[in-house]
Amino acid sequence: MRKFECIDDNMLIGGVRAIDLAEEYGTPVYVTDEDAVRENYRAIYGAFSRRMPTRINYACKANANLAILRILEQEGSCIDAVSIGEVEACLRAGFSPERILYTGVNVSNHELAQLVNRNITINIDSLSQLERLAEITSGARISFRMNPEVGAGHHEKVVTGARSTKFGVPRDRIMDAYERAIELDFQPIGLHVHIGAGVQVVEPFAKATDVLVSVAQELESKLGLQLEFIDIGGGIGIPYRPDDSPMDLELLAEEVTSRIKNGTSASKVVLEPGRYIIADTTVLLTTVVDLKETPDRWFAGVDAGFNTLVRPAFYGSYHHVAVANKFGRPGEVTYDVVGPICESGDHLAKDRLLPRLEEGDLLAVYDAGAYGSTMSSQYNMRPKCREVLVRRGSSNLIRERETIDDLLRHDRIPSRLML
Ligand SMILES: Cc1ncc(COP(=O)(O)O)c(C=O)c1O
Repeated sequence: MRKFECIDDNMLIGGVRAIDLAEEYGTPVYVTDEDAVRENYRAIYGAFSRRMPTRINYACKANANLAILRILEQEGSCIDAVSIGEVEACLRAGFSPERILYTGVNVSNHELAQLVNRNITINIDSLSQLERLAEITSGARISFRMNPEVGAGHHEKVVTGARSTKFGVPRDRIMDAYERAIELDFQPIGLHVHIGAGVQVVEPFAKATDVLVSVAQELESKLGLQLEFIDIGGGIGIPYRPDDSPMDLELLAEEVTSRIKNGTSASKVVLEPGRYIIADTTVLLTTVVDLKETPDRWFAGVDAGFNTLVRPAFYGSYHHVAVANKFGRPGEVTYDVVGPICESGDHLAKDRLLPRLEEGDLLAVYDAGAYGSTMSSQYNMRPKCREVLVRRGSSNLIRERETIDDLLRHDRIPSRLML
């Protein structure tokens, strides 16, 4: 959790008062601090690159706003993309095709052809995908996503590396996959795993690296194949709760890189952090529009619901909440912070001790940069909200609020229904 400055009871984000941002852009609004994005990227790149050549493939599923992509392009990041839409966004943000690695699951032939047309390197998820790719192209540089049978994560829905999940080539078929790729005239250059998301400790990454190293050794000894890169995926967690500990990046980098350097001849380590880079750079500002006292509890009704930030409703995730215009004041009343969506599961936070609220107060929901706007929806016909970038006291709009017309634009009424 990032610390925010306070002036006269007001929270500052990137040097701008939250209440001024709410006034100028309306709420709900996502606000991202540009310096924080750069700082996070440099921290993770620095920890690994001090030990061995490193490539960071920012997992843009976490946040694919074009301005955020531009910042990371300037920093020298590369990209992990999982759909042709993400690839297109990154190309438009200025990433060259060789800086994008595509890791899709259950990929159609149509999407494979689009990737080949754009010269994107594909990280293959299944033997079927390999055969289908061979019908479209040959000679391409490829890598494989392996299921390492090591899974971890903050919720069962985000554990991707366990044996029972749909992801990757099974461990016991991975040698067949490389052999077949060579037969089909592909150039296999990498090996990848992704164990899950929100992992706060080093151990599962170390375990997954052991599996990667043993497969890389088998590839060298049996097929004479020397990999260019070993990719340990993303999934590095952040401290969402005030008393959570941050990941020990130095220890993580040491455990991972020492294993790769000592056990393989791979020249590069690749990581795919999404959350680590973007989550704590962004707060969601939302206005208290309604207060309700019931026999059981106090509800603070706000203008952002699970349409805007789905993580609490979907995963039961914790996001810290502060009152941006009563910042630092002591808590007096315990509230559930709930949104405008017509479902009882529509909450942003439960049981939070906050200063006594009034309608019109401004709440700041922390750590909303990853899987916030990208997982938002228009459920209940609510347009997606604005996004703003702040930097050292000034702000820019980086995504316009949708309109009702935007929501209706794609609907069609057959003429027979107009009679
Ligand atoms: C293949 C892959 N790489 C990287 C990530 C990024 O994960 P995180 O944002 O937790 O770092 C994901 C997330 O789902 C993923 O599926």
